Amino acid sequence: MPSIREFATAKSAGRKLVVVTSYDAWSARLLAETPVDCLLVGDSAMMVVHGERDTLGATTELMVLHTRAVAKGAPDKLIVADMPFLAARKGSAHALDCAAALLRAGAHAVKIEGARGHLDVIGHLVESGIPVMGHLGLTPQSVHAFGGFKVQARETAAATQLREDAAALEAVGAFAIVLECIPAKLAGAVTADLRIPTIGIGAGADCDGQVLVLHDLLGFNPDFKPRFVRRFADGAATVQEGVKRYAAAVQKGEFPQAKESF
Ligand code: KIV
Repeated sequence: MPSIREFATAKSAGRKLVVVTSYDAWSARLLAETPVDCLLVGDSAMMVVHGERDTLGATTELMVLHTRAVAKGAPDKLIVADMPFLAARKGSAHALDCAAALLRAGAHAVKIEGARGHLDVIGHLVESGIPVMGHLGLTPQSVHAFGGFKVQARETAAATQLREDAAALEAVGAFAIVLECIPAKLAGAVTADLRIPTIGIGAGADCDGQVLVLHDLLGFNPDFKPRFVRRFADGAATVQEGVKRYAAAVQKGEFPQAKESF
């Protein structure tokens, strides 16, 4: 059974953790055959799959649907599911219900953005046997408070606060923390402060692991190219080429042939 314990052992062994998003069964099935350590059912699904401008529209029901699909596709991978917007801010009972629904759908842990004001809720989930991954820095659910998707904690006060928040998350039992879009030097300092692993996205090379959105790393969205994304494949071209060849074959009457018919 996949376990969050591998996160702790990876950090002590100095092995970098590889995390990637997945929202559906077919991508999960493909990712099941790769060396990724963990599939993140991110609420970025709202933007990447549902075409929204932000992640705020995600609901528990929607995250459950995506989580169940991923769990079916990759039953042997560690799956972390995002708690949707405000799910950790309505008290422990609401958070427990949401986390329970995600775990029943196949997640092994939940990810919760932010720390201040809901550390008690995170602690309560952990004490209830639900592993929690933290998420600090550019937490997309706070996009309106930040005034856009911008690098966070550049100033000393904000950097100090982030280091304190990371220590507080570790103290209440988080098993790992995503650090999103913060200066690399700060991410390195947080990583050195903590016993639990940090997973960076736009946070430099000194984190204990990295996470990217699958569609970004495969180049499926040619219009989206932030500095922190590297394209490891030209997915958009592959999809369009394949579909153009299919269209041409249909138009020329070359598809289907007898061996493709009954
Ligand atoms: O929702 C998501 O995909 C995330 C990652 C980008 C860290 O939170």
